[in-house]
Amino acid sequence: MSQRPIIALDFSSKIEVEAFLAKFPHDESLFVKVGMELFYQEGPEIVRWLKSLGHSVFLDLKLHDIPNTVEKAMTGLAKLGVDMTNVHAAGGIKMMKAAKAGLEKGTKSGGEVPVLIAVTQLTSTSEAEMQQDQLIQVPLKESVLHYAKCAQDAGLSGVVCSALEVEAIHEATSKDFVCLTPGIRPSGSDLGDQKRVVTPREARKIGSTFIVVGRPITKANIPYEAYQTIKNEWNGENL
Ligand code: C5P
Repeated sequence: MSQRPIIALDFSSKIEVEAFLAKFPHDESLFVKVGMELFYQEGPEIVRWLKSLGHSVFLDLKLHDIPNTVEKAMTGLAKLGVDMTNVHAAGGIKMMKAAKAGLEKGTKSGGEVPVLIAVTQLTSTSEAEMQQDQLIQVPLKESVLHYAKCAQDAGLSGVVCSALEVEAIHEATSKDFVCLTPGIRPSGSDLGDQKRVVTPREARKIGSTFIVVGRPITKANIPYEAYQTIKNEWNGENL
């Protein structure tokens, strides 16, 4: 089965999401990412609604708190029916294990436990900022690989990372460790504020497991056409 790029629903209201989804065929089951902007304004109902339409949901809330709190929060998110969610690896191995346990507790018996991945270093953090603000005195890449290994040790499925980090992460962990990569631009498209981008085809070659695409689809004149082009390129078709 062909794989779906994950569409970042970077909107601030359900009304905007409805208008966007109306541009897709009703029976097209999408994989969408709901982030803090949308979730904190529309609440858990937005996830229930997207699931009721038949879409898969990656809830990108990047949890980071004491293990007990994260475990309880994750139990609630699993009950909502999310398909994938995430935490900050900086919360530590105990916190990541608690997150996983929470998801398992919240999943109906016989149901699929949501995929849990970790954020390593945010791609907005520079090496200098990491060294000054976090007092981590190693190269940024070493910190990313360390956090990826911690996530693996905690039993998580993978990490969110730049496509440019995928090969090193796979070497440090395992080939089947999930690498979900944003910063994707089809060749010849507007970069927006993203700097280090790769095309869907390059992401596939590098070994990304999932790609997250926002503006190249949400701001396209014909979003469904843009989605299909990216999906085909991601799946190695029509090249
Ligand atoms: O519009 P664009 O394709 O740049 O959107 C990418 C999505 O991935 C946004 O929701 C953005 O917040 C998210 N993201 C990112 N870079 C990261 C982590 C998340 O662009 N390192």
